[in-house]
Amino acid sequence: MFTPEMLKSVEKVEATREERMGLEPERMTADEKDALLKAYHPDYKEDGFTTIKIGPNKGQKVPSELGHLLHSNSRLLNEHIDLNKIDYDVDVLIIGGGGAGASAAIEANEAGANVMIVTKLRIGDANTMMAEGGIQAADKENDSPVQHYIDAFGGGHFAARPELLKRLVMEAPDSIKWLNSLGVEFDKDREGTMVTTHGGGTSRKRMHACKDYTGAEIMRTLRDEVQNRRIPVVEFTSAVELIKDDKGQAAGAVLLNMETGDYLVARAKTVIIATGGAGRLHYQNFPTSNHYGATADGLIMGYRAGAPLLYQDTIQYHPTGVAYPAQIYGALVTEKVRSLGAMLVNVDGEAFMHPLETRDVAAAGIIRECTDRHKGVTTPIGTGVWLDTPMIERIGGEGTIEKRIPAMLRMYMNYDIDMRKLPILVYPTLHYQNGGLEIGGDGFTKSISNLLVAGEAVGGIHGRNRLMGNSLLDIIVFGRNAGKAAASRAKEIKLGSLNLDHIYRYAEELKAAGAESDDVSPLLLPKYARHQR
Ligand code: FUM
Repeated sequence: MFTPEMLKSVEKVEATREERMGLEPERMTADEKDALLKAYHPDYKEDGFTTIKIGPNKGQKVPSELGHLLHSNSRLLNEHIDLNKIDYDVDVLIIGGGGAGASAAIEANEAGANVMIVTKLRIGDANTMMAEGGIQAADKENDSPVQHYIDAFGGGHFAARPELLKRLVMEAPDSIKWLNSLGVEFDKDREGTMVTTHGGGTSRKRMHACKDYTGAEIMRTLRDEVQNRRIPVVEFTSAVELIKDDKGQAAGAVLLNMETGDYLVARAKTVIIATGGAGRLHYQNFPTSNHYGATADGLIMGYRAGAPLLYQDTIQYHPTGVAYPAQIYGALVTEKVRSLGAMLVNVDGEAFMHPLETRDVAAAGIIRECTDRHKGVTTPIGTGVWLDTPMIERIGGEGTIEKRIPAMLRMYMNYDIDMRKLPILVYPTLHYQNGGLEIGGDGFTKSISNLLVAGEAVGGIHGRNRLMGNSLLDIIVFGRNAGKAAASRAKEIKLGSLNLDHIYRYAEELKAAGAESDDVSPLLLPKYARHQR
C-alpha cells in the first residue's frame, strides 16, 4: 500500500478530480514538443551514448551499453567449430521465437519450405507476450491506411522509411483478418464488430485489442499454429554467430545449447533474424518492460556479419512503467489506461499534460515533472506521477476497468492497490528499440544476401518514435513477409562452403581501432542472470 506522504498526495488528486473530469488538457505545439524532448528525453542525454568505432555505422552514435557489445569479440574466436559437421540443414532458419519469428515460420511452412525456429528460451518468451494495449489497423469506415500512415509518420518525426511504413499500414487490415482466422479472440461488441480505441498520436480509433493482454493472446495463437504445423522449434539454444558461404551469402548460424554448452551448426539457405529488442541492456539504468531475453543479440550478430544499423540511437521509453510498488518496478502500465480516460497528474493533483501525447513527448513530460519542476511523488524507491485510474470508472461506468484492463487490475490487486479506487504511480520504463538492422521493402538486408530481419530487430519502420500498437502490427506484417520471401528465395539458392571469416575480420578491425575487449557478445542473458554462458 501507499506511504502516508503518498496518501496525502492522493487526497489532492481526489480533490481536483471533479474539476478535471470536464477538462481536456491542451496539446503541445510542435515547437513545445521539440524543446521538451531536447531537454528531457533520454535520447538527448549525450553521456548515455558512445561512438561506434568500426563497421558500416562507424562514427555514429549508439547507446553506450549497445556500443560496448558492438565493441566486444565473438565468443567463437577461440573455439574450433567444425562447419563440415552439420547438425541442422534447412531452407529457412528463423532466429527468435516471438511473434515475428512464429509468423515467419507459419508462412514459410505454408509455402512448402523446410523451416526451423531456434530460440534461446522457449517459443513465446518474447516481448510479443508482454504487449498489452493493442494492435493498430485502419479497417473501419472512417479510417484508411493513408490516415494510419500520416499518424505514424508524424509520430516518428518523419523519419520512417516510406517503403517500410507503407507496407506496415497497407497490410494491417489483412493482418487482423489473418489473426482472427487463426483464432485470436479480439474484443468485439454484441454485433461481432471489433471494438477499437485511440492510442497516443492516433487520429482515429484503430487499436484492436484482446482486453489488456493482446500480445499474450496473439502469441498463444501463433504458438499453437506453429505447434499444429509441427514446425521444428529448437529451444534453450541460442544463435551466437551467423555463418556465411564462400560467396558471402548468409548460410546459417552457429548455435549454443544453453544447457550443455555445446556448439551446433545450422546450415540454411536463408536466415531470418527475429531476435527482438534490447530492454535488458537497461540503457541509462532505466528499468524495463521487456522480457528476460531482450539483449539485442540479432543486432550484434548482424552487424558483425556486415549488416548496417539504422536509428540505433533512438530508444522508446514507455511513459507509464510501474513506479511503485518495488516488486513490479518498470513493468508496463498499458497506454490503454490513458486511452480509457486516466489523466497524468502531479503531486499536487494537477493534470500537467495531455495524456495521449506521443510516447516520447509523454515520457519527457513526466521526467520534467519529476525533476526540474519538483512535482513528482516521492516513493521509497524513487519518484513518479499519478495516473488517475478511478477516472476510468467515472467515464466508462462501474466495471470498466475489470472488463477492459483486467490484467492491470489483477497486477495491482496483488499488492493491495485497487486501481478502481486509487490512482497508480508511474514513471518511464525502457520499452522498445526504434532502431535496428536496416532492411529494404522486401525484408532483406541490403548488404548480406539471403539475410532477412523481422520485428523489433528492424530499424526504420517507425522512424524515431513508434506509436502504440504498431509493434504488434509490424511483427505480423514483416514476420509474414519475411517467411514468404525467405521460402521463395530458398528455392533458388545453392550454398557454397561455409565459413566464419567475418568474425576474425571483425576482431582485426577492433584491434586496429584500439577497441580490444575481453568481453564477448552477443550477451544472450542479462548481466544479472544467475546462470551465464
Ligand atoms: O502501452 C501498451 O500497451 C504498449 C503497446 C505497444 O508498445 O505497442
